Amino acid sequence: MRAHLITYGCQMNEYDTHLVRSQLVSLGADIVQSVDEADVVLVNTCAVRGKPVEKVRSLLGELRKIKARRPLLIGMMGCLAQLDEGQQIARAFGVDILLGPGSLLDIGAALEANERFWALNFRNDLHAHVPPPPQGTLQAYLTIMRGCDHHCTYCIVPTTRGPQVSRSPDDILRELDLQLAAGVQEVTLLGQNVNAYGVDQGAQLAGYPSFAALLRMVGRSGVRRVKFTTSHPMNFTEDVAAAMADTPAICEFIHLPVQSGSDRVLRRMAREYTREQYLRHVADIRRHLPHAVMATDIIVGFPGETEDDFQDTLSLYDEVGYDSAYMFIYSPRPGTPSYTHFHDLPREVKTERLGRLVTKQKDWSARKNAAKVGTVQEVLLRGDAHEGGFLEGHTRGSHPTVVPAAHGADHPGIYSVRIGHATPHMLYGRIVDAQGQELPLMNGAQSSQQRPDAAAMVSPLPMA
Ligand code: 5AD
Ligand code: SF4
Repeated sequence: MRAHLITYGCQMNEYDTHLVRSQLVSLGADIVQSVDEADVVLVNTCAVRGKPVEKVRSLLGELRKIKARRPLLIGMMGCLAQLDEGQQIARAFGVDILLGPGSLLDIGAALEANERFWALNFRNDLHAHVPPPPQGTLQAYLTIMRGCDHHCTYCIVPTTRGPQVSRSPDDILRELDLQLAAGVQEVTLLGQNVNAYGVDQGAQLAGYPSFAALLRMVGRSGVRRVKFTTSHPMNFTEDVAAAMADTPAICEFIHLPVQSGSDRVLRRMAREYTREQYLRHVADIRRHLPHAVMATDIIVGFPGETEDDFQDTLSLYDEVGYDSAYMFIYSPRPGTPSYTHFHDLPREVKTERLGRLVTKQKDWSARKNAAKVGTVQEVLLRGDAHEGGFLEGHTRGSHPTVVPAAHGADHPGIYSVRIGHATPHMLYGRIVDAQGQELPLMNGAQSSQQRPDAAAMVSPLPMA
Protein backbone atom coordinates (compact mmCIF):
# COMPACT_ATOMS: atom_id res chain seq x y z
CA MET A 1 0.00 0.00 0.00
CA ARG A 2 1.27 3.46 -0.94
CA ALA A 3 -0.39 6.20 1.08
CA HIS A 4 -0.37 9.97 0.65
CA LEU A 5 -1.70 12.31 3.36
CA ILE A 6 -2.89 15.89 2.89
CA THR A 7 -3.54 18.20 5.85
CA TYR A 8 -5.74 21.29 6.13
CA GLY A 9 -6.27 23.35 9.27
CA CYS A 10 -4.42 23.85 12.50
CA GLN A 11 -1.46 22.29 14.31
CA MET A 12 -3.85 19.81 15.97
CA ASN A 13 -4.51 18.45 12.52
CA GLU A 14 -0.76 18.34 11.75
CA TYR A 15 -0.32 16.27 14.91
CA ASP A 16 -3.26 14.01 14.01
CA THR A 17 -1.91 13.48 10.50
CA HIS A 18 1.40 12.42 12.03
CA LEU A 19 -0.49 10.01 14.30
CA VAL A 20 -2.32 8.42 11.37
CA ARG A 21 0.84 8.38 9.25
CA SER A 22 2.67 6.45 11.96
CA GLN A 23 -0.24 3.98 12.20
CA LEU A 24 0.02 3.44 8.46
CA VAL A 25 3.76 2.88 8.67
CA SER A 26 3.25 0.31 11.42
CA LEU A 27 0.77 -1.45 9.09
CA GLY A 28 3.49 -1.68 6.47
CA ALA A 29 2.44 1.20 4.20
CA ASP A 30 4.88 3.25 2.16
CA ILE A 31 4.30 6.96 2.61
CA VAL A 32 4.55 8.72 -0.75
CA GLN A 33 4.84 12.40 -1.52
CA SER A 34 2.23 12.78 -4.27
CA VAL A 35 -1.26 11.65 -5.22
CA ASP A 36 0.12 10.20 -8.48
CA GLU A 37 2.23 7.64 -6.62
CA ALA A 38 -0.51 6.71 -4.14
CA ASP A 39 -3.20 4.06 -4.04
CA VAL A 40 -4.64 5.54 -0.82
CA VAL A 41 -5.10 9.29 -0.28
CA LEU A 42 -6.19 10.53 3.15
CA VAL A 43 -7.33 14.13 3.55
CA ASN A 44 -7.32 15.59 7.07
CA THR A 45 -9.92 18.33 6.98
CA CYS A 46 -10.83 21.56 8.77
CA ALA A 47 -14.34 22.95 9.22
CA VAL A 48 -13.70 26.15 11.13
CA ARG A 49 -14.54 28.47 8.22
CA GLY A 50 -16.16 28.15 4.80
CA LYS A 51 -12.82 28.49 2.98
CA PRO A 52 -11.13 25.29 4.19
CA VAL A 53 -14.35 23.42 3.44
CA GLU A 54 -14.27 24.71 -0.14
CA LYS A 55 -10.64 23.61 -0.46
CA VAL A 56 -11.55 20.07 0.60
CA ARG A 57 -14.46 20.03 -1.82
CA SER A 58 -12.27 20.97 -4.78
CA LEU A 59 -9.52 18.52 -3.77
CA LEU A 60 -12.09 15.70 -3.51
CA GLY A 61 -13.33 16.71 -6.96
CA GLU A 62 -9.82 16.20 -8.34
CA LEU A 63 -9.45 12.88 -6.53
CA ARG A 64 -12.79 11.66 -7.89
CA LYS A 65 -11.54 12.33 -11.43
CA ILE A 66 -8.39 10.28 -10.77
CA LYS A 67 -10.46 7.51 -9.21
CA ALA A 68 -12.53 7.33 -12.41
CA ARG A 69 -9.33 6.41 -14.29
CA ARG A 70 -7.65 4.01 -11.86
CA PRO A 71 -8.19 2.27 -8.49
CA LEU A 72 -7.82 4.77 -5.64
CA LEU A 73 -9.00 4.62 -2.05
CA ILE A 74 -10.09 8.06 -0.81
CA GLY A 75 -10.22 8.83 2.92
CA MET A 76 -11.56 11.92 4.65
CA MET A 77 -10.75 12.50 8.30
CA GLY A 78 -10.77 15.30 10.86
CA CYS A 79 -13.22 18.04 11.74
CA LEU A 80 -15.27 18.24 8.54
CA ALA A 81 -15.72 14.46 8.56
CA GLN A 82 -17.55 14.74 11.88
CA LEU A 83 -20.25 17.05 10.49
CA ASP A 84 -23.37 16.31 8.41
CA GLU A 85 -22.00 18.85 5.94
CA GLY A 86 -18.82 16.79 5.57
CA GLN A 87 -20.67 13.48 5.30
CA GLN A 88 -22.82 14.89 2.48
CA ILE A 89 -19.65 15.99 0.71
CA ALA A 90 -18.10 12.56 1.32
CA ARG A 91 -21.12 10.83 -0.27
CA ALA A 92 -21.14 13.21 -3.22
CA PHE A 93 -17.45 12.63 -3.97
CA GLY A 94 -17.28 8.86 -3.45
CA VAL A 95 -15.21 8.90 -0.27
CA ASP A 96 -14.41 5.34 0.90
CA ILE A 97 -13.11 5.98 4.42
CA LEU A 98 -14.45 8.62 6.78
CA LEU A 99 -12.88 9.06 10.24
CA GLY A 100 -13.94 11.76 12.72
CA PRO A 101 -11.24 13.37 14.90
CA GLY A 102 -12.02 10.85 17.69
CA SER A 103 -11.81 7.79 15.41
CA LEU A 104 -8.34 8.12 13.95
CA LEU A 105 -7.19 4.83 15.48
CA ASP A 106 -9.79 3.07 13.32
CA ILE A 107 -7.56 3.59 10.28
CA GLY A 108 -6.32 -0.03 10.39
CA ALA A 109 -9.85 -1.45 10.50
CA ALA A 110 -10.88 0.95 7.75
CA LEU A 111 -8.16 -0.31 5.43
CA GLU A 112 -9.02 -3.94 6.16
CA ALA A 113 -12.71 -3.42 5.42
CA ASN A 114 -13.67 -4.29 1.88
CA GLU A 115 -16.49 -1.79 1.85
CA ARG A 116 -17.15 1.82 2.71
CA PHE A 117 -15.97 2.41 6.29
CA TRP A 118 -17.24 5.37 8.32
CA ALA A 119 -16.36 5.93 12.01
CA LEU A 120 -17.49 8.93 14.03
CA ASN A 121 -17.14 7.78 17.64
CA PHE A 122 -14.79 9.39 20.16
CA ARG A 123 -12.49 6.54 21.17
CA ASN A 124 -11.09 6.72 24.71
CA ASP A 125 -7.90 4.88 23.81
CA LEU A 126 -6.90 7.77 21.56
CA HIS A 127 -5.88 9.83 24.59
CA ALA A 128 -3.45 7.23 25.91
CA HIS A 129 -2.05 6.51 22.46
CA VAL A 130 1.57 7.66 22.20
CA PRO A 131 2.64 7.98 18.57
CA PRO A 132 6.31 7.46 17.71
CA PRO A 133 8.27 10.72 17.47
CA PRO A 134 8.64 12.49 14.13
CA GLN A 135 12.02 11.71 12.53
CA GLY A 136 14.56 14.11 11.10
CA THR A 137 13.02 17.27 12.53
CA LEU A 138 13.95 19.57 15.39
CA GLN A 139 10.34 20.54 16.03
CA ALA A 140 7.42 18.48 17.30
CA TYR A 141 3.84 19.00 18.38
CA LEU A 142 2.50 17.32 21.48
CA THR A 143 -1.25 17.20 22.06
CA ILE A 144 -2.01 17.58 25.76
CA MET A 145 -5.80 17.64 25.45
CA ARG A 146 -8.52 17.16 22.88
CA GLY A 147 -11.89 18.87 22.42
CA CYS A 148 -13.22 22.03 24.00
CA ASP A 149 -15.69 22.81 26.79
CA HIS A 150 -16.36 26.40 25.70
CA HIS A 151 -19.24 27.29 23.44
CA CYS A 152 -18.20 30.39 21.56
CA THR A 153 -21.23 31.12 19.40
CA TYR A 154 -19.29 31.23 16.09
CA CYS A 155 -17.27 28.05 16.64
CA ILE A 156 -17.90 24.58 15.25
CA VAL A 157 -15.01 22.94 17.15
CA PRO A 158 -16.98 21.76 20.23
CA THR A 159 -19.21 19.88 17.75
CA THR A 160 -16.37 18.43 15.69
CA ARG A 161 -13.93 17.59 18.46
CA GLY A 162 -16.33 17.03 21.36
CA PRO A 163 -15.89 17.92 25.03
CA GLN A 164 -12.46 18.50 26.54
CA VAL A 165 -10.41 15.45 27.52
CA SER A 166 -6.98 16.08 29.06
CA ARG A 167 -4.26 13.51 28.41
CA SER A 168 -2.55 12.07 31.46
CA PRO A 169 0.72 13.76 32.46
CA ASP A 170 2.45 10.33 32.29
CA ASP A 171 1.48 9.84 28.65
CA ILE A 172 2.50 13.41 27.81
CA LEU A 173 5.92 13.06 29.46
CA ARG A 174 6.45 9.63 27.90
CA GLU A 175 5.76 11.07 24.46
CA LEU A 176 8.08 13.99 25.22
CA ASP A 177 10.89 11.59 26.20
CA LEU A 178 10.57 9.79 22.87
CA GLN A 179 10.67 13.12 21.04
CA LEU A 180 13.78 14.19 22.94
CA ALA A 181 15.51 10.90 22.16
CA ALA A 182 14.69 11.50 18.47
CA GLY A 183 16.50 14.85 18.58
CA VAL A 184 13.57 17.24 18.97
CA GLN A 185 14.68 20.64 20.33
CA GLU A 186 11.41 22.57 20.26
CA VAL A 187 8.11 21.14 21.42
CA THR A 188 4.76 22.90 21.07
CA LEU A 189 2.06 21.75 23.50
CA LEU A 190 -1.32 21.72 21.79
CA GLY A 191 -4.89 22.06 22.95
CA GLN A 192 -7.96 24.14 22.14
CA ASN A 193 -7.65 25.71 25.57
CA VAL A 194 -4.39 24.67 27.22
CA ASN A 195 -4.98 26.80 30.31
CA ALA A 196 -7.89 24.55 31.26
CA TYR A 197 -5.60 21.48 31.21
CA GLY A 198 -6.57 18.95 33.92
CA VAL A 199 -10.01 20.51 34.50
CA ASP A 200 -12.44 18.69 32.19
CA GLN A 201 -16.11 19.79 32.21
CA GLY A 202 -15.31 21.96 35.22
CA ALA A 203 -13.97 19.08 37.36
CA GLN A 204 -10.34 18.89 38.49
CA LEU A 205 -8.94 15.49 37.51
CA ALA A 206 -7.21 13.70 40.40
CA GLY A 207 -3.44 13.55 40.00
CA TYR A 208 -3.34 16.00 37.08
CA PRO A 209 -1.11 19.08 37.49
CA SER A 210 -2.26 22.57 36.58
CA PHE A 211 -1.18 23.79 33.15
CA ALA A 212 1.47 26.00 34.78
CA ALA A 213 2.85 22.98 36.66
CA LEU A 214 2.82 20.87 33.49
CA LEU A 215 4.69 23.63 31.67
CA ARG A 216 7.35 23.62 34.37
CA MET A 217 7.71 19.82 34.11
CA VAL A 218 8.09 20.00 30.34
CA GLY A 219 10.47 22.94 30.72
CA ARG A 220 12.71 20.88 33.00
CA SER A 221 12.81 17.86 30.67
CA GLY A 222 15.93 18.94 28.82
CA VAL A 223 14.09 20.18 25.72
CA ARG A 224 15.64 23.45 24.52
CA ARG A 225 12.39 25.28 23.74
CA VAL A 226 8.78 24.92 24.84
CA LYS A 227 5.84 26.70 23.22
CA PHE A 228 2.11 26.19 23.65
CA THR A 229 -1.13 27.06 21.94
CA THR A 230 -3.94 28.03 22.33
CA SER A 231 -4.67 30.01 25.47
CA HIS A 232 -8.31 30.96 26.04
CA PRO A 233 -8.27 34.28 27.93
CA MET A 234 -11.14 33.04 30.12
CA ASN A 235 -8.89 30.36 31.64
CA PHE A 236 -5.59 32.23 31.56
CA THR A 237 -3.99 32.48 34.99
CA GLU A 238 -1.02 34.51 36.15
CA ASP A 239 0.87 31.40 37.28
CA VAL A 240 1.36 30.55 33.60
CA ALA A 241 3.14 33.88 33.07
CA ALA A 242 5.21 33.18 36.20
CA ALA A 243 6.15 29.69 34.91
CA MET A 244 7.18 31.25 31.59
CA ALA A 245 9.31 33.85 33.33
CA ASP A 246 11.22 31.48 35.59
CA THR A 247 11.66 28.46 33.28
CA PRO A 248 14.36 29.27 30.71
CA ALA A 249 13.19 26.70 28.15
CA ILE A 250 9.68 28.17 27.91
CA CYS A 251 9.65 30.69 25.08
CA GLU A 252 8.40 34.21 25.80
CA PHE A 253 5.73 33.85 23.14
CA ILE A 254 2.02 33.87 23.86
CA HIS A 255 -0.89 33.37 21.52
CA LEU A 256 -3.93 34.80 23.29
CA PRO A 257 -6.88 35.08 20.89
CA VAL A 258 -9.01 38.13 21.71
CA GLN A 259 -11.47 37.81 18.77
CA SER A 260 -12.89 41.34 19.35
CA GLY A 261 -12.12 44.48 21.36
CA SER A 262 -15.79 45.27 21.96
CA ASP A 263 -17.54 44.04 25.09
CA ARG A 264 -20.84 43.97 23.23
CA VAL A 265 -19.40 41.66 20.55
CA LEU A 266 -17.51 39.54 23.09
CA ARG A 267 -20.84 38.97 24.88
CA ARG A 268 -22.56 37.95 21.65
CA MET A 269 -19.65 35.61 20.95
CA ALA A 270 -20.06 34.14 24.49
CA ARG A 271 -16.33 34.57 25.07
CA GLU A 272 -16.81 34.83 28.85
CA TYR A 273 -14.36 37.73 29.39
CA THR A 274 -14.45 41.49 28.93
CA ARG A 275 -11.98 43.77 27.21
CA GLU A 276 -10.81 44.94 30.62
CA GLN A 277 -10.20 41.40 31.88
CA TYR A 278 -8.29 40.60 28.70
CA LEU A 279 -6.09 43.67 29.11
CA ARG A 280 -5.46 42.67 32.73
CA HIS A 281 -4.05 39.34 31.48
CA VAL A 282 -1.82 41.24 29.06
CA ALA A 283 -0.60 43.46 31.92
CA ASP A 284 0.12 40.36 34.06
CA ILE A 285 2.09 38.80 31.21
CA ARG A 286 4.08 41.99 30.62
CA ARG A 287 4.82 42.34 34.35
CA HIS A 288 6.40 38.88 34.40
CA LEU A 289 7.81 39.04 30.86
CA PRO A 290 8.38 42.62 29.71
CA HIS A 291 9.55 41.41 26.29
CA ALA A 292 6.83 38.84 25.70
CA VAL A 293 5.90 38.42 22.06
CA MET A 294 2.12 38.67 21.79
CA ALA A 295 0.02 37.12 19.04
CA THR A 296 -3.74 36.91 18.69
CA ASP A 297 -6.72 35.84 16.57
CA ILE A 298 -9.35 38.39 15.56
CA ILE A 299 -12.69 37.88 13.82
CA VAL A 300 -13.98 40.90 11.90
CA GLY A 301 -17.59 41.42 10.91
CA PHE A 302 -19.20 39.24 13.54
CA PRO A 303 -23.02 39.58 13.21
CA GLY A 304 -24.18 42.89 14.66
CA GLU A 305 -20.64 44.36 14.79
CA THR A 306 -21.02 48.15 14.35
CA GLU A 307 -18.36 50.59 13.22
CA ASP A 308 -17.98 51.59 16.90
CA ASP A 309 -17.42 47.94 17.87
CA PHE A 310 -14.81 47.62 15.16
CA GLN A 311 -13.11 50.81 16.36
CA ASP A 312 -12.87 49.10 19.78
CA THR A 313 -10.99 46.23 18.11
CA LEU A 314 -8.61 48.67 16.39
CA SER A 315 -7.96 50.55 19.64
CA LEU A 316 -7.37 47.31 21.54
CA TYR A 317 -4.82 46.32 18.92
CA ASP A 318 -2.98 49.58 19.64
CA GLU A 319 -3.26 49.12 23.40
CA VAL A 320 -1.69 45.65 23.27
CA GLY A 321 0.66 46.31 20.34
CA TYR A 322 0.56 42.74 19.02
CA ASP A 323 3.60 41.35 17.24
CA SER A 324 1.32 39.39 14.93
CA ALA A 325 -2.29 38.42 14.41
CA TYR A 326 -4.38 35.95 12.50
CA MET A 327 -7.33 37.89 11.17
CA PHE A 328 -10.48 36.27 9.85
CA ILE A 329 -13.67 37.43 8.25
CA TYR A 330 -16.61 35.98 10.16
CA SER A 331 -17.79 32.82 8.41
CA PRO A 332 -21.25 31.52 9.35
CA ARG A 333 -20.91 27.81 10.07
CA PRO A 334 -24.03 25.62 9.99
CA GLY A 335 -24.53 24.07 13.42
CA THR A 336 -23.20 27.03 15.40
CA PRO A 337 -25.46 29.31 17.51
CA SER A 338 -24.42 32.44 15.61
CA TYR A 339 -25.41 30.79 12.31
CA THR A 340 -28.84 29.95 13.68
CA HIS A 341 -29.61 33.13 15.60
CA PHE A 342 -27.78 36.06 13.97
CA HIS A 343 -27.75 37.76 10.58
CA ASP A 344 -24.50 37.83 8.66
CA LEU A 345 -23.21 41.32 7.75
CA PRO A 346 -22.80 42.25 4.08
CA ARG A 347 -19.60 40.88 2.53
CA GLU A 348 -18.35 44.38 1.55
CA VAL A 349 -18.58 45.62 5.15
CA LYS A 350 -16.57 42.64 6.38
CA THR A 351 -13.85 42.85 3.73
CA GLU A 352 -13.47 46.61 4.12
CA ARG A 353 -12.95 46.20 7.88
CA LEU A 354 -10.52 43.35 7.35
CA GLY A 355 -8.49 45.64 5.05
CA ARG A 356 -8.21 48.28 7.75
CA LEU A 357 -7.24 45.71 10.37
CA VAL A 358 -4.57 44.19 8.12
CA THR A 359 -3.07 47.66 7.62
CA LYS A 360 -2.86 48.07 11.38
CA GLN A 361 -1.32 44.61 11.82
CA LYS A 362 1.33 45.31 9.18
CA ASP A 363 2.15 48.62 10.80
CA TRP A 364 2.61 47.03 14.25
CA SER A 365 4.51 44.01 12.93
CA ALA A 366 6.84 46.34 10.99
CA ARG A 367 7.49 48.38 14.14
CA LYS A 368 7.99 45.34 16.35
CA ASN A 369 10.30 43.65 13.83
CA ALA A 370 12.26 46.87 13.21
CA ALA A 371 12.96 47.04 16.96
CA LYS A 372 14.76 43.67 16.63
CA VAL A 373 17.36 45.09 14.24
CA GLY A 374 20.74 45.07 16.00
CA THR A 375 19.64 42.48 18.61
CA VAL A 376 20.89 38.90 18.83
CA GLN A 377 18.06 36.34 18.60
CA GLU A 378 18.11 32.61 19.29
CA VAL A 379 16.99 31.08 15.99
CA LEU A 380 16.05 27.47 15.32
CA LEU A 381 17.33 26.96 11.78
CA ARG A 382 15.36 24.17 10.11
CA GLY A 383 17.27 24.00 6.85
CA ASP A 384 17.58 25.52 3.40
CA ALA A 385 15.42 28.45 2.40
CA HIS A 386 13.95 28.56 -1.11
CA GLU A 387 16.89 30.64 -2.28
CA GLY A 388 20.19 28.75 -2.48
CA GLY A 389 22.82 29.69 0.08
CA PHE A 390 20.23 30.72 2.69
CA LEU A 391 18.79 28.97 5.72
CA GLU A 392 15.38 29.56 7.29
CA GLY A 393 14.07 29.23 10.79
CA HIS A 394 12.29 31.10 13.55
CA THR A 395 13.06 32.89 16.81
CA ARG A 396 11.82 32.06 20.30
CA GLY A 397 9.07 34.57 19.54
CA SER A 398 8.18 32.59 16.35
CA HIS A 399 9.38 35.32 13.95
CA PRO A 400 10.30 33.75 10.61
CA THR A 401 14.02 34.43 10.05
CA VAL A 402 16.41 34.01 7.13
CA VAL A 403 20.23 33.91 7.28
CA PRO A 404 22.97 33.23 4.72
CA ALA A 405 24.55 29.81 5.22
CA ALA A 406 27.73 30.11 7.29
CA HIS A 407 30.72 27.88 7.98
CA GLY A 408 30.30 26.21 11.36
CA ALA A 409 26.52 26.26 11.02
CA ASP A 410 25.95 23.83 8.21
CA HIS A 411 23.36 21.61 9.88
CA PRO A 412 19.93 22.41 11.33
CA GLY A 413 20.01 23.55 14.95
CA ILE A 414 19.64 26.46 17.32
CA TYR A 415 22.00 29.37 16.59
CA SER A 416 22.55 32.96 17.68
CA VAL A 417 21.67 35.40 14.92
CA ARG A 418 22.30 39.15 14.83
CA ILE A 419 19.36 40.77 13.05
CA GLY A 420 20.40 43.23 10.36
CA HIS A 421 17.20 43.90 8.48
CA ALA A 422 13.46 43.44 9.06
CA THR A 423 10.19 43.53 7.13
CA PRO A 424 6.72 43.12 8.70
CA HIS A 425 6.90 39.38 8.03
CA MET A 426 10.55 38.45 8.19
CA LEU A 427 13.81 39.02 10.04
CA TYR A 428 17.13 38.82 8.18
CA GLY A 429 20.41 38.34 9.97
CA ARG A 430 23.83 36.70 10.25
CA ILE A 431 24.86 33.83 12.49
CA VAL A 432 27.21 34.88 15.29
CA ASP A 433 29.38 32.92 17.73
CA ALA A 434 29.30 33.11 21.53
CA GLN A 435 31.44 36.26 21.40
CA GLY A 436 29.05 37.93 18.97
CA GLN A 437 31.45 37.54 16.03
CA GLU A 438 29.84 36.81 12.66
CA LEU A 439 30.69 33.37 11.25
CA PRO A 440 32.31 33.34 7.79
CA LEU A 441 29.79 32.84 4.99
CA MET A 442 29.75 29.66 2.92
CA ASN A 443 30.80 29.97 -0.72
CA GLY A 444 27.95 31.39 -2.74
CA ALA A 445 26.08 32.87 0.22
CA GLN A 446 25.46 36.61 0.22
CA SER A 447 24.81 38.74 3.24
CA SER A 448 21.04 38.96 3.55
CA GLN A 449 21.40 42.47 4.91
CA GLN A 450 22.86 43.64 1.62
CA ARG A 451 20.06 42.22 -0.46
CA PRO A 452 17.59 44.93 -1.48
CA ASP A 453 15.16 42.21 -2.56
CA ALA A 454 15.44 40.30 0.71
CA ALA A 455 11.72 40.69 1.39
CA ALA A 456 10.84 38.91 -1.83
CA MET A 457 13.02 35.87 -1.21
CA VAL A 458 10.95 33.80 1.15
CA SER A 459 7.25 33.96 1.77
CA PRO A 460 6.23 34.40 5.41
CA LEU A 461 5.66 31.19 7.34
CA PRO A 462 2.62 30.66 9.48
CA MET A 463 3.52 31.45 13.05
CA ALA A 464 1.21 29.38 15.11
N1 5AD B 1 -15.53 32.55 11.36
C1 5AD B 1 -14.33 33.17 11.31
N2 5AD B 1 -13.30 32.82 12.09
C2 5AD B 1 -13.47 31.81 12.96
N3 5AD B 1 -12.65 31.26 13.85
C3 5AD B 1 -13.30 30.25 14.48
N4 5AD B 1 -14.55 30.15 14.01
C4 5AD B 1 -14.70 31.12 13.06
C5 5AD B 1 -15.76 31.53 12.22
N5 5AD B 1 -16.97 30.93 12.25
C6 5AD B 1 -11.29 31.73 14.06
C7 5AD B 1 -11.08 32.20 15.50
C8 5AD B 1 -10.24 31.10 16.09
C9 5AD B 1 -9.46 30.63 14.89
C10 5AD B 1 -8.86 29.27 15.03
O1 5AD B 1 -10.39 30.66 13.85
O2 5AD B 1 -10.37 33.43 15.47
O3 5AD B 1 -9.41 31.57 17.15
FE1 SF4 C 1 -9.93 23.46 11.87
FE2 SF4 C 1 -10.56 23.94 14.39
FE3 SF4 C 1 -10.59 21.45 13.55
FE4 SF4 C 1 -8.25 22.73 13.84
S1 SF4 C 1 -9.73 22.17 15.47
S2 SF4 C 1 -8.87 21.51 12.12
S3 SF4 C 1 -8.86 24.83 13.23
S4 SF4 C 1 -11.93 23.11 12.86
